[in-house]
Amino acid sequence: MKKLIIGNWKMNPKSETEALAIVEKIKKALIPIVGIDLILCPPAVYLDRLYEEVRLTSIKLGAQNAHERNSGAFTGEISIPMIKKWVRYVILGHSERREIYKEDDKTINKKVINALIHNVSPILCVGETIKEMRMGDNEVIIKQLREDLKLVSPKDMEKMIFAYEPIWAIGKERGADPQYANQQIGLMRQAIASFYNRDLAIRARILYGGSVNASTVKDYLDQPEVNGVLVGGSSVVAAEFIQICKIAMGK
Ligand code: PGA
Repeated sequence: MKKLIIGNWKMNPKSETEALAIVEKIKKALIPIVGIDLILCPPAVYLDRLYEEVRLTSIKLGAQNAHERNSGAFTGEISIPMIKKWVRYVILGHSERREIYKEDDKTINKKVINALIHNVSPILCVGETIKEMRMGDNEVIIKQLREDLKLVSPKDMEKMIFAYEPIWAIGKERGADPQYANQQIGLMRQAIASFYNRDLAIRARILYGGSVNASTVKDYLDQPEVNGVLVGGSSVVAAEFIQICKIAMGK
């Protein structure tokens, strides 16, 4: 299975010009992209323009969130049908959405289902708080998975991507210990096996996310359970992100 590298730009950069410059640099430095899959998740307002930029490359685009309904009176929201022509992926259940915007598993589940209906692959994020980590409470990530995947068919599971993103490791100087990330992702795989079957669990793409940078990416990718990385802060710094991808490509 190819390693998957996803850049979650969050609410960055401040202008379309800067967004274009990042993509230009990535294209110039990495194409042809061999041995990895690469997905960029910029703010939705840049998708149209960036789509033109990556259309003829193997770089794919994802959105960072989308509403669970297709249209309606939901001020400020964006729906899957609105962005579908540019994206094949959508990040759902990111901890910033859960914590700041109070999205619960029920809502995340509806978002997952709606994305799947439109053939857009959810990149489903789960992760525990520092308190839960200290208590050794692993049930929380299993519970998130169970609730977020409710009514997702085995066939649709083929389209899902997962990210283990411990909340305490996001936006920090150091991420989670790679062995610890490996162990938690192993637990997620076991949970998927128990909800579905072993075969689906083995084939599920589960990434690690949380303060990944060029000096740590290899340690994560070397872990047997880790199928890739979800990169936040370091994905909008072109040189750093290019380095991360090159390492993943074995260059
Ligand atoms: P970070 O963010 O790499 O800046 O820690 C990861 C994420 O939130 O997806």
